[in-house]
Amino acid sequence: MEQELLSLQAEARKNLDQIAEQGQLEDFRIRYLGRKGQFSVIMRELGTVSPEERPRLGQLANTIKAEIEKAFDEKKAVLSSSPQSGAKGAALIDLSLPGRYPERGSLHPVTQIMNEVCSIFEALGFSVAEGPDVEHDHYNFEALNIPAHHPARDMHDTFYVSESILLRTHTSPMQARIMESQQPPLRVIAPGKVYRCDSDITHTPMFHQVEGFLVDTKVSFADLKGILTVFTQKMFDKDLDLRFRPSFFPFTEPSAEVDIACVICGGSGCRVCKQTGWLEILGAGMIDPEVFKMVGYDPEIYSGFAFGLGIERIAMLKYGINDIRLYYENDLRFLSQF
Ligand code: FA5
Repeated sequence: MEQELLSLQAEARKNLDQIAEQGQLEDFRIRYLGRKGQFSVIMRELGTVSPEERPRLGQLANTIKAEIEKAFDEKKAVLSSSPQSGAKGAALIDLSLPGRYPERGSLHPVTQIMNEVCSIFEALGFSVAEGPDVEHDHYNFEALNIPAHHPARDMHDTFYVSESILLRTHTSPMQARIMESQQPPLRVIAPGKVYRCDSDITHTPMFHQVEGFLVDTKVSFADLKGILTVFTQKMFDKDLDLRFRPSFFPFTEPSAEVDIACVICGGSGCRVCKQTGWLEILGAGMIDPEVFKMVGYDPEIYSGFAFGLGIERIAMLKYGINDIRLYYENDLRFLSQF
């Protein structure tokens, strides 16, 4: 029996040493220390040894069991204080590896394009101004020669906050805001969010525009064409076909909508350009004399041009994106590509 006890002691010590995870402890406890465990079985056999031997063997069994219980408790404490500790866990830690850094985000693609557009115009001498998203009807419409009940108001799908307050439908109110407080010469861009009740693959209810305007003496339509041509060359790093289409805006005369050759299909026609080969990126024109009169400029002395660029449309062309709504679905698989 003594031999049996000593070999059980050696076996239990060895098995305890090999335990590296908390999950293995319970198996060990049941196998050696539990009510039906191997020490209990041996203890029960003590009844069969001679009465002279029984005290010595009983004491030996108790000592060995107490030693294994103590070693078991120590092992349990070590494994529960650190899941990585223990012989196997220690081997998993490689202190020479570089530390883990928190993942860094990046600017939204629309913000990146907005910054790029602004820096191109800043390099051309334009200064940057910002104005409110929640705007007075006066600046969004009246001061831009769009009086109440003018049919052009229908084109804007406006979100009204109250009868005279609205979410601006374009960045053009910034023309009136800047001109009423500053004198020419002016060369300004005004980037920002605008809102319209509109949604499909090329329209979103909130989107971004950059307004640009230049007022001085002797400004002509040729200046407008020159600035926009330089802008597209710099933005797309190549000569892309531009198309000036006659259009109408109450605050510019003459007016044009400017299209760029669709970079998605190369001009052959696709879902995005509605099979036309062109995508509209901006509205523009010569500032209407009525607008000048409302801000107190003499239209006989001053002339100027203005344009309003759709930033998401430019981002679509630049990155070859065929659905504008992808920008606002917040899917990291899409956003992390930029
Ligand atoms: C205007 O908003 C005029 N204020 C532009 C302007 C400024 C004309 C200065 C003359 C002088 P328009 O509604 O066409 O025009 O919008 C301008 C550009 O915004 C469009 O060419 C298009 O690129 C973009 N855009 C318009 N609606 C949406 C929309 N719902 N979602 C995304 N982009 C849009």
